[in-house]
Amino acid sequence: MIINAENEKKLAAKEAVKLIRQGQVVGLGTGSTAYFAILEIADMVRNGLQIKAIPTSVRSRELAGKLNIPLIDIHAVDSIDITIDGADEFTRELNLIKGGGGALLREKVVAAMTREQVIIADSAKKVDKLGKFHLPVEVIPFAASYVMNRLKDLNGVGTIRQKDGSSFLTDQGNFIIDTDFGIIDEPAKLAEKLDAVVGLVEHGLFINLAHKVIMGQDNKTVIFNKPGYNT
Ligand code: 5RP
Repeated sequence: MIINAENEKKLAAKEAVKLIRQGQVVGLGTGSTAYFAILEIADMVRNGLQIKAIPTSVRSRELAGKLNIPLIDIHAVDSIDITIDGADEFTRELNLIKGGGGALLREKVVAAMTREQVIIADSAKKVDKLGKFHLPVEVIPFAASYVMNRLKDLNGVGTIRQKDGSSFLTDQGNFIIDTDFGIIDEPAKLAEKLDAVVGLVEHGLFINLAHKVIMGQDNKTVIFNKPGYNT
């Protein structure tokens, strides 16, 4: 069967936005799946939904602005009610790899502030174990070689992400090192080790941050909840 990833992304986005309630502060994700959620949210705003949104990237902020979604400064809130974001890979345990779009740092800050983190994905993103997608690691440019060597110590083979012939820069002006760790058997342990590397700003392992994954599959959606989370 030919899987239409774009249709699956749209289906997941349509389902996820149903969780948004009047008056909420809403985190807007980044990427081609989150894009569809932002379009849906803009429609809902046009039809009377009152929310305040916090985008996870300059790209999503520009899109939300163009679509007249009301925004609020992240410093004006203590928490975010719901965030709808994408992922590069997810497991049944709701561990994720994110950062394919380079927005992992702001995405993780927003996720950490969020009460209901909803991930939307097409069915190709579901894996038994993380690691086929190379883990994005955000690093300050000054520390790039040092961090690359520490990644090697952890059996990771890293490449600095390139765009248009030069190093890709994140919204914070950092580099991304896309790192091949092979199959990641113990993502929480690896995350802890990466957290300890000086100069490494953040990595794309999202452990224990997602409450729900809504996956498009063919013409329907499948929902995976964090154990004990059933709303
Ligand atoms: C951006 C991300 C995205 O959520 C992730 O890359 C998935 O993107 P897409 O929905 O385009 O497949 O983490 O930093």
